[in-house]
Amino acid sequence: MYIRPRRNRKSAAVRLHAQETHIQANQLIYPLFLYDGKNIQQEVASLPGNYRWSLDRLLPEVEACLKLGITTFVLFPAVDESLKDQVATYSYADENFYLHAIRTLKETFPECCIMTDVAMDPYSSDGHDGLVKDGKILNDETLPILAKMSIAQAQAGADILGPSDMMDGRIGYMREALDENGFTDVSIMSYTAKYASAFYGPFRDALDSAPKAGDKKTYQMNPANKREALIEAELDWSEGADYLMVKPALPYLDIIHILNQNFDTPIAAYNVSGECAMLIAAAQKGWLDFDKAMPEMLMSIKRAGASVILTYFAKQYAQMLRDGKI
Ligand code: PBG
Repeated sequence: MYIRPRRNRKSAAVRLHAQETHIQANQLIYPLFLYDGKNIQQEVASLPGNYRWSLDRLLPEVEACLKLGITTFVLFPAVDESLKDQVATYSYADENFYLHAIRTLKETFPECCIMTDVAMDPYSSDGHDGLVKDGKILNDETLPILAKMSIAQAQAGADILGPSDMMDGRIGYMREALDENGFTDVSIMSYTAKYASAFYGPFRDALDSAPKAGDKKTYQMNPANKREALIEAELDWSEGADYLMVKPALPYLDIIHILNQNFDTPIAAYNVSGECAMLIAAAQKGWLDFDKAMPEMLMSIKRAGASVILTYFAKQYAQMLRDGKI
């Protein structure tokens, strides 16, 4: 035998020479849930180790993450039910605590990169990503609301906007609104191939944002479809998206791969709440070794072709890297 693949696995040193995929802390984006108020750090029951933070408690957490090499955070607001309405007015209100938090974070840590969420659901009394009328989600009528939200977030200092709503045409609409207002440098990470998935459960618990009626299948993609992701990607790219995201990640590695092969802009993948929760739960039961399974999970997403990964494990992964455990 001239070729023995096992020779490249014979020792840790050689295995590292042969290693094809690496994940650095700065390739992970850490999702954080924000709550209005003071001195709040409330654990999300279905996503242990993750919290709804008030800004005062969040600041030291962000600082700790920055020290670990995490550069980017995606923020989601948990909005009080009394502030929600059908048209998501609070999403761009001057006194919005989420916008205030973005501003404070950017002032306190100018080097940190802040990504936002652009969608109506955290602010909508219907719990949908778009405007609801007679049980239907209206597409074109939602776009101006998303644009107002985008401008407000850009004004607050956001670096990257993350439209997670799946309305048609929203990337171009937002890009135009941003540019007209002088925000040509604000990036858009489009939730390009976002599937109507059962894996968003813990996230909706964290934000109390589950739809009040119906489901999201008229705007989020059918899990059975792959080629359709290329249509979404083509549109988002031509409308000015800077990153194309696939969400969820693990059950959609083939989608990450196909976007990576067909588009030259960075591909992002969202390792969503339910994917993380199932690993945490299995580890709690003693059925899986968390410290081994978690990096393996993230590696599969990176290997599939994601340049950046949004994951609730960002901090733990960065700590393990620092401690030489990976
Ligand atoms: C909604 C939104 C969702 C997530 C991010 N933005 C849930 C949904 O579409 O209902 C899910 C993220 C996660 O599960 O971690 N705009």
